[in-house]
Amino acid sequence: MTEAISANRIAAGLDRQARKIAIEIIDETGSTNTDLLKRAFALSSPTMLLARRQTAGRGRGGKVWHSAPDASLTFSLAWPFLRPAAELAGLSLVIGVSLARSLRELGVLVTLKWPNDVLKDGKKLAGILVERSSEPNRQAPDKNWVIIGIGINLQLPDELETQISQPAAEALWLSNMDKNLLVATLLNQLVGTFTQFESDGLAAFVTSWNALHAYDRKKVIVFRDGQPKHSGMVVGIDEYGRLILEENGNRTAFSAGEVSLRQDNE
Ligand code: BTN
Repeated sequence: MTEAISANRIAAGLDRQARKIAIEIIDETGSTNTDLLKRAFALSSPTMLLARRQTAGRGRGGKVWHSAPDASLTFSLAWPFLRPAAELAGLSLVIGVSLARSLRELGVLVTLKWPNDVLKDGKKLAGILVERSSEPNRQAPDKNWVIIGIGINLQLPDELETQISQPAAEALWLSNMDKNLLVATLLNQLVGTFTQFESDGLAAFVTSWNALHAYDRKKVIVFRDGQPKHSGMVVGIDEYGRLILEENGNRTAFSAGEVSLRQDNE
């Protein structure tokens, strides 16, 4: 039997750098991102909030994030960054690389779909929601506090699979491992990633992101406001995190938030 999740057991698996994270575990909440966003102005250290059950989980673009107790891992991490706000847009790509590295280290072969979905067997295994606190932090007003929400489908019980409106993946391997070790592994990697991001920015991750790209050199359709607008071959991301599409020999760069994409299987 695997150990129940607890703050002490997670802390026991953390590296020296990650030990500064305050670990909080709760049985139920609406959304761990919403909770930490509300508290970000008053936090005095990086904080991770994990909920066994989320009743109003949020995804990117105002979507609902569905999860189920025991079947899903849902947590958020509040972290203070010194990088200017404009550069934090690239953070979600960086976090995708971090998650992919941890999951691969644990034996789950994942790839990335721009801007920040984590795929297994071409289906979504995990999602990342990066939000910025608008209120300055009381103790460190010079820093940009960011709330990083991570949701992973460990198992897909029928009811959960029905709720999720897109092809979803599960990772039974992760589901069977000690969740404390799983969370500690993710946090250790994230903290290492943040240190590199603070010193070198997104540029340090572009090659790694492109190597993990699920749709590398594949044909995709680009949607704007739900309408198909472009079709071409994706050739990765640039140093600003924009997706580069090659269409009839011309290259166009798209920023996250303005478009979505789907693989063109024709
Ligand atoms: C997405 O792919 O759209 C992002 C999903 C992010 C889900 C996580 S679960 C923990 C945290 N709390 C939330 O309400 N959302 C994030």
